[in-house]
Amino acid sequence: MLKLLAVQGSPRKGGNTEILLDEAIRGAQDVGAQVKKVELRLLHITPCLEIYACKKTGQCPIQDDMTALYSEMESSQRLILASPIFFYSVTAHAKAFIDRCQAGWARRYVLGRRIESAVERRGAFIAVGATSGKRLFEGVKLTVKYFFDALDMVYAEDLLIRGIDEKGEILKHPEHLQTAYDLGRRMGTP
Ligand SMILES: Cc1cc2nc3c(=O)[nH]c(=O)nc-3n(C[C@H](O)[C@H](O)[C@H](O)COP(=O)(O)O)c2cc1C
Repeated sequence: MLKLLAVQGSPRKGGNTEILLDEAIRGAQDVGAQVKKVELRLLHITPCLEIYACKKTGQCPIQDDMTALYSEMESSQRLILASPIFFYSVTAHAKAFIDRCQAGWARRYVLGRRIESAVERRGAFIAVGATSGKRLFEGVKLTVKYFFDALDMVYAEDLLIRGIDEKGEILKHPEHLQTAYDLGRRMGTP
């Protein structure tokens, strides 16, 4: 059975990001994936402190809520990261989480250690922004691409939605909910 880690990066409980992520979770569960959802806003995740012990050990020496997440990420073949767009990037919650994955980058590129997996390790990204600019997701896509790379995952797909601002506004767009559900089904399938 595939393990999927669903990471909710919005500080707004019941906001657009969480609604979309929950649809994706439903899709993944419907095809039999074992899903664990984590809400970054409830966790204590210190930003990366550049101690760089990870270059020697592949592990981050900071003991906080990230410690348990490292093993979850390693044992999950799928990860969905969801975040609203804040200043053309992910939220501060999501960025602290991503930066702490520098330990994964060090493990892969300094120590040359890969994560063994019988099935392809895949990541997907869900993002919502208020504006409609053509370049809205340009920066964040690069951030997320290299985040997945550090986790030894392929950036398999994304769902990037413009023009949604108010809390729960996404519910007026059943087509986006359906797309999130379908993404979840694909992510939950080997
Ligand atoms: C601090 C902050 C920064 C934001 N920056 C952007 C931005 O750069 N571009 C944009 O389109 N929307 C921006 N937004 C709007 C949010 O992306 C939008 O309201 C989104 O629907 C919130 O999703 P949520 O309900 O999941 O939290 C910003 C909102 C906040 C609070």
